[in-house]
Amino acid sequence: MKKPDSPDANASIVLPELPYAEGALAPVISANTLAFHYGKHHKGYVDTLNKLITGTPMAALPLEEIIAQTSGKADKVAVFNNAAQVWNHTFYWKSLRAKGGGEPPAALRQKIEDDFDDVEACKKELLAAATSQFGSGWAWLVLEEDKLRVMKTGNAGTVMGKHTQPLLGIDVWEHAYYLDYQNRRADYAAAVLDKLVNWGFAADNLAAHASA
Ligand SMILES: [Fe+2]
Repeated sequence: MKKPDSPDANASIVLPELPYAEGALAPVISANTLAFHYGKHHKGYVDTLNKLITGTPMAALPLEEIIAQTSGKADKVAVFNNAAQVWNHTFYWKSLRAKGGGEPPAALRQKIEDDFDDVEACKKELLAAATSQFGSGWAWLVLEEDKLRVMKTGNAGTVMGKHTQPLLGIDVWEHAYYLDYQNRRADYAAAVLDKLVNWGFAADNLAAHASA
């Protein structure tokens, strides 16, 4: 029998498993940071979202639909913030991998060279977006129409839209880096881009959206 006072009793949104061990991204991102970031922050968004939607029609909806239905609605901002943060974090974990960085797969590299000149220029734009986002937020590589583009969003902001699809997402909230880098967000973002970024994930997303 379900316990109605348990946050998990009627949970419709589940915290996805991390795609690697908590220590897999060290030393760029420590196991300590991942333990807090995934186990406290990401889990916290899941738990809060479930509390907010349990017993409402939204409990039956997929996460993406909850985000779409609450985006820009002043009376649904708490649901949107938590739902978007659940989605953004799941996407962020996939945007990283142990021994990442390096050269993107050929098809993505060609597309980057078409739209940014070269991979270094693309990384430079991503770094600029990550460091110039004022306060908490996200830096993104997106496919907009048929062009690659770098974007940034504040707080829980997403880049999922009719004409925009995310390929990579980098968390620039302080909780993503403060234990390892203190206030040095640029050092965190540069290290992520050089050593952890999962170009294969971006290439898969490009292929999926380009053929959609
Ligand atoms: Fe985060």
